[in-house]
Amino acid sequence: MIEYSIASFYDLLLLPFVKLIRYKVLEIAQEYNFKSILDVCCGTGNQLKLLKKHGFNVSGIDISDEMLIISRIGKYKPNCIREDAADMSFNNESFDMAMITFGLHEKNRETAENIIHEMNRVISKNGFIMIIDFNIDENTSIISKSIIRLIERIAGNDHYRHFRKYISFGGLEALLKDMDFKEVNKYFFASNGIVLRLLKNI
Ligand SMILES: C[S@@+](CC[C@H](N)C(=O)[O-])C[C@H]1O[C@@H](n2cnc3c(N)ncnc32)[C@H](O)[C@@H]1O
Repeated sequence: MIEYSIASFYDLLLLPFVKLIRYKVLEIAQEYNFKSILDVCCGTGNQLKLLKKHGFNVSGIDISDEMLIISRIGKYKPNCIREDAADMSFNNESFDMAMITFGLHEKNRETAENIIHEMNRVISKNGFIMIIDFNIDENTSIISKSIIRLIERIAGNDHYRHFRKYISFGGLEALLKDMDFKEVNKYFFASNGIVLRLLKNI
């Protein structure tokens, strides 16, 4: 796992790569007028702060105290608490939409599946799930693939091992294959190196 002692630099490092995605999430939230949003593995709360700034009711969970400390800084502080994404304490059907950004590729398959099941449990009937993560397929540019592999290598041995397994078992496509979601929309970023999937439970 990434050493999240880099938490204080995390947004600065990541923002150039994810700014477009953060604003796409905001655009989708506005389009669907989500009343309550949960960001699972919310990190520093960067996405939630943007959503809150635009009037959304937001909550987040993360396992890292270092990341959560940063989430509590600034004008638009989201409500972020320490929880395990695979075993959340929220009641069933607590949110309109639950999202996860770059939280699944670093997990083994069983944990990734448990997290998605938990997200499904806490959203309302006909609620939405948004998953943003790396995508490596025949349409992903070589430059994107190389940058993603480099980032994952830098993130550490375990992290890289999980990432490689995630890609080899088929990534998000394989994870979602046997789950009962309706695809609402799909967006690609970074020359197909990152995908945003908007799903609805059925
Ligand atoms: C790559 S970061 C992504 C952060 C954030 N979603 C973003 O877009 O900037 C992954 C985050 O997942 C958190 N995390 C890892 N395992 C977790 C778990 N089991 N439950 C909750 N959070 C977890 C880490 O602490 C970290 O903040």
